Amino acid sequence: MKGIVFTEFLDLVESKFGLETVQQIIDESELESNGVYTSVGTYKFNEMVSLLTNLSKATKIAPNDLLRVYGLHFFDALVNNYGSILKSYKGPIELLSSIEGHIHVQVRKLYPDAELPQFETLEQTDEKLVLIYRSSRSLYPFAHGLMEKSFEHYGQNCDIKHELLKEDGSEVRFEIVKK
Ligand code: HEM
Repeated sequence: MKGIVFTEFLDLVESKFGLETVQQIIDESELESNGVYTSVGTYKFNEMVSLLTNLSKATKIAPNDLLRVYGLHFFDALVNNYGSILKSYKGPIELLSSIEGHIHVQVRKLYPDAELPQFETLEQTDEKLVLIYRSSRSLYPFAHGLMEKSFEHYGQNCDIKHELLKEDGSEVRFEIVKK
């Protein structure tokens, strides 16, 4: 997993829960990296699972709820760091339907070792998008947060429904409707 995912996560934890909580979850997580991340480095996904699990214990907030909020925050990081990729899209539906064929393709060129999800478009109109998310990392609530923020970015609102096609969250159907 790329370092930016860790650095942004710890930034968010610091702003919401304070530096002490950052230190606490790093200490509790027994990390190979010792909790030292650079945005372009690559680290084990397990480290994110440990940090998230310990944050959930410390805050009594469910991991999936934390991941969704993290998705909202991560979108802003994408705007700040990869604005040039996002600029080519006129609206959220166009943006979200281009992750698989364009956005993450660019990401893969920058970082050949990136661990990216797959998105399959099942249905697309001006008002509606049906996508299947597939990833062994089951970060679908993170995807949910990113989708919500994509609409907000263009001053729009949406309704997002999701359905787990596999119980472990590695395959999830999203129905996204513009409001
Ligand atoms: C993961 C880049 C837009 C969904 C990632 C990662 C990067 C990245 C660097 C981490 C890869 C790793 O840890 O190895 C970008 C850039 C974007 C963009 C530059 C736009 C400019 C989006 C959008 C979504 C999305 C709009 C909306 C759903 C995800 C998800 C993951 C991910 C869910 C987590 C990995 C997984 O689930 O397996 N992306 N992304 N990305 N991205 Fe994107």
